[in-house]
Amino acid sequence: MEDRARTTAARVLENRRLWDERVPINAASEFYDLTGFRSGRDDLDSFQLDELGDVDGLDLAHLQCHIGLDTMAWARRGARVAGLDFSAPAVETAAALAAEAGLEGRARFIAADVYDAVEELGARAFDVVYTGNGALMWLPDISRWARTVAGLLRPGGRLYLAEFHPLTDVLDDEDGATVVRDYFSRGARTYYSPGSYADWSAETVHNNATEWHHTLGDVVSAVAGAGLRVQFVREHETIPFQRYAALVADGGRFRYADRRTRLPLMYSLAATADA
Ligand SMILES: C[S@@+](CC[C@H](N)C(=O)[O-])C[C@H]1O[C@@H](n2cnc3c(N)ncnc32)[C@H](O)[C@@H]1O
Repeated sequence: MEDRARTTAARVLENRRLWDERVPINAASEFYDLTGFRSGRDDLDSFQLDELGDVDGLDLAHLQCHIGLDTMAWARRGARVAGLDFSAPAVETAAALAAEAGLEGRARFIAADVYDAVEELGARAFDVVYTGNGALMWLPDISRWARTVAGLLRPGGRLYLAEFHPLTDVLDDEDGATVVRDYFSRGARTYYSPGSYADWSAETVHNNATEWHHTLGDVVSAVAGAGLRVQFVREHETIPFQRYAALVADGGRFRYADRRTRLPLMYSLAATADA
């Protein structure tokens, strides 16, 4: 048991080194388009804007915020935001961008592990906890994550999660249709991943990534098990990057070319804390 825990901690540390190294690469990439961000552009999915709705005046925590662009997109819509990420270079980049954008009064960024978020950000201090877009697969314990979210929310507060669909973890990288892995295998999966999804040509040395697969049922059950009331779970047909070679671009998003063979690429979930 102790050995297994040590191994998990070592894998999380390895992941942090991988992410630390990718921060400057991602910040310089066209994918994250900091020039566009500086001129006021953001990249939130339209379904996220519709589903989360008006955040003006709300306290919003963004878990695993990376360089904070989505965090600041909510701040620009009037929320007071706190972004948390275990990568110190990521939150330093986010804080510098917030200062540049004149958002430092309403956007703060903290370097910490997700599981320490309640201690770091404040218990029951938020109206909204927002997360996703490639966040949950980096977490070994989904029930502990859900309890952390519940600990951050004020009575009546809301979790809003917009995440890559776990089905996308098990499909072939080329066709996005052939099943190549076991959907029900929950163990850690370590793989070699040079470069970055934001720039595959980037030279990198920390290339071992470990992900933990959480099925849709596991995530929904963890949220319910933490005492939150699930409002909806919706599946979506687009994704913000070319997850499979077979996907086609469509208005800044990617989707299956053939409507007869579509699979869900993302899902969103909203859940509330008891008032
Ligand atoms: C794919 S990025 C999230 C992307 C972000 N939603 C965006 O669009 O920029 C995943 C983030 O999770 C962070 N992360 C991974 N494991 C973490 C952990 N245990 N605690 C806190 N942050 C973690 C990484 O540093 C990285 O910034």
